[in-house]
Amino acid sequence: MIHFREDFLGKLKSASRLVFFSGAGISAESGIPTFRGEEGLWKKFKPEELANFNSFIRNPQMVWEWYQYRRKIGKESLPNPGHFAIAEMEKYFSDVTVVTQNVDNLHRRAGSKNIYELHGNIEKNFCIACHSRYDFLDFQESVDVPRCKSCGGLIRPDVVWFGEMLPQDVFSEAESKASKCDICFIVGTSGIVYPAAFIPLTAKQNGAYLVEININPTELSSTADYSLYGRSGEILPLILSAVKSKEY
Ligand code: OAD
Repeated sequence: MIHFREDFLGKLKSASRLVFFSGAGISAESGIPTFRGEEGLWKKFKPEELANFNSFIRNPQMVWEWYQYRRKIGKESLPNPGHFAIAEMEKYFSDVTVVTQNVDNLHRRAGSKNIYELHGNIEKNFCIACHSRYDFLDFQESVDVPRCKSCGGLIRPDVVWFGEMLPQDVFSEAESKASKCDICFIVGTSGIVYPAAFIPLTAKQNGAYLVEININPTELSSTADYSLYGRSGEILPLILSAVKSKEY
C-alpha cells in the first residue's frame, strides 16, 4: 500500500484534465519487451538494421519478419491493470488523454478513447509507393513482405522509424493537450527519445504537475514533481482506487 503525498492528492482533487505519457514500460507487464535495459529489444537487435527506411529498401523481407514477430507477441498479449486503470480514469475526470510512444495498441484495447500514437501503430500498414492503407488483418499470415493490391508497391508497417518525422498533426495535437493539462503522468518510459519527450516538458512549462511512474529513476525524474517507483501495473490501479474512494 502506498501513501501518496498530500500535494499529489490535492492536485488529483482539483484536476480535470489529465495526460498520460506512456512508453514501453507500461506494456512490460503484458509480456511485451521494452527497448532498453538488459532484456530490451535493442540489446538483441540493431535498430539501424531494423527500424529505418533504408534497411527496409535493402532487405524488406528481414524488416517485415521482425515486425510480424513483434505483431505476434502483441497479438498474444493483453492489456494489463495499468492500461485498464488509465482507461477507467475517464469516468472520473472530464478530459483524459493518452499520448503514447507505444505501437502495440494496448491502450485502445483497454478502452482508452483519446489516444495520440506518436510512433504509429504496429497493426497498421501502408504502401510506400501509393500510400494505400492496410491493417494488420489484411496480412496477418503474410510470411513474405506483401505488395500493394493497387500498385504493387512494397507494404511497410505504419510506425515511425529512425530518421523519420513524427506524424505532425498527431504530435501538435498531443502538444496542445499537454499544454492544457493539470497533471501529466509519465509512465514507463526512459524519456530519452525526442521529440516525444517534449510532451511532459511542455506540460510542465505550462504549469502542469508532473508525476513519474517507473521501476527506476530516468532522465525525466529531476523534472518530475513526484516520482513513484514501482510497476505501473500496480501503481496506476492504486491511484485509481484513491480517486474512486475520494481518499483525498
Ligand atoms: P525504453 O525501453 O527506453 O524504456 C522503458 C522504461 O520502462 C524504462 O525506463 C524502464 O525502467 C521502465 N519500465 C520497465 N518495466 C516497467 C514497469 N513494469 N512499470 C513501470 N516502468 C517500467 O522504452 P521507451 O521509453 O518507450 O521508438 O522508448 C522510447 C522509444 O525508443 C520507443 O518508442 C522506440 C524506441 O526506439 C521508436 O521506435 C521510434
